[in-house]
Amino acid sequence: VKEVIRNMKIILLGAPGAGKGTVAKLLTEYDGSVQISTGDILRAAVKEGTELGREAKGYMDRGDLVPDALIMRMMETRLQQPDCANGFILDGFPRTIPQAEALKKLLEKLNIRLNFVVNLEVPRDVILDRLTTRRTCSNPDCQEIYNIKSNPPLPDGRCKKCGSPTIQRDDETEEAILNRLETYNEKTAPLIGFYEREGLLKTFSSVSSAETVEAVKKALKEC
Ligand code: AP5
Repeated sequence: VKEVIRNMKIILLGAPGAGKGTVAKLLTEYDGSVQISTGDILRAAVKEGTELGREAKGYMDRGDLVPDALIMRMMETRLQQPDCANGFILDGFPRTIPQAEALKKLLEKLNIRLNFVVNLEVPRDVILDRLTTRRTCSNPDCQEIYNIKSNPPLPDGRCKKCGSPTIQRDDETEEAILNRLETYNEKTAPLIGFYEREGLLKTFSSVSSAETVEAVKKALKEC
């Protein structure tokens, strides 16, 4: 029987391809908390053609960040939905200092305390390799993440879980990947110092997802 950690409230911080989505999925399977990926919410909005999706698409395809105001409006609503009461893992949010400051105020208002912020560390050459070899299930209800080298889908490219075709994302061109990494260094990496000053930062190697998840679980039990 798995030992269950209830109600975790954590942020996953890391460069594109650091493994945030992969680690978040493994953690939610473990404790029943909800994964909130701003990237997934935005990609679903683009697919559905909502106003948010139409506004976000250009930024996303280039590998630029979507404006803070749009993200904050979306996340204020999301964090007040009832499923968040069982715990949540924020994957890809916050991404800028203004988002982190706005989130801090929002959590204070909602009387929510974070366990800590997980900073996933991976060497840059590993990241570039991972992003060019990632495949994602095209079914919006599944979105299983694969890697043609380390965790391939079925031989004909279909998802092992639901049988839908797997695809490369629109922001997985070499140009967009390089821009996403630059944007990360400029806008998101300063959050490491921000959360260090808040006394919330814990850094984990993200070379093996299974080992990362075990280390995060251990830290949760100790906090
Ligand atoms: P988002 O979807 O958040 O993309 P990202 O941060 O670039 O992160 P990725 O999803 O690319 O990587 P990941 O760290 O989740 O890695 P994964 O687990 O898939 O955002 C997309 C866009 O949306 C942004 O560019 C922006 O425009 C917009 N956006 C989103 N949030 C925003 C915000 N808050 N503010 C403004 N704009 C926002 O792993 C990658 C690959 O590596 C996979 O193939 C996986 O199988 C493989 N892999 C992972 N771990 C391992 C391992 N340990 N060993 C071997 N392979 C591994």
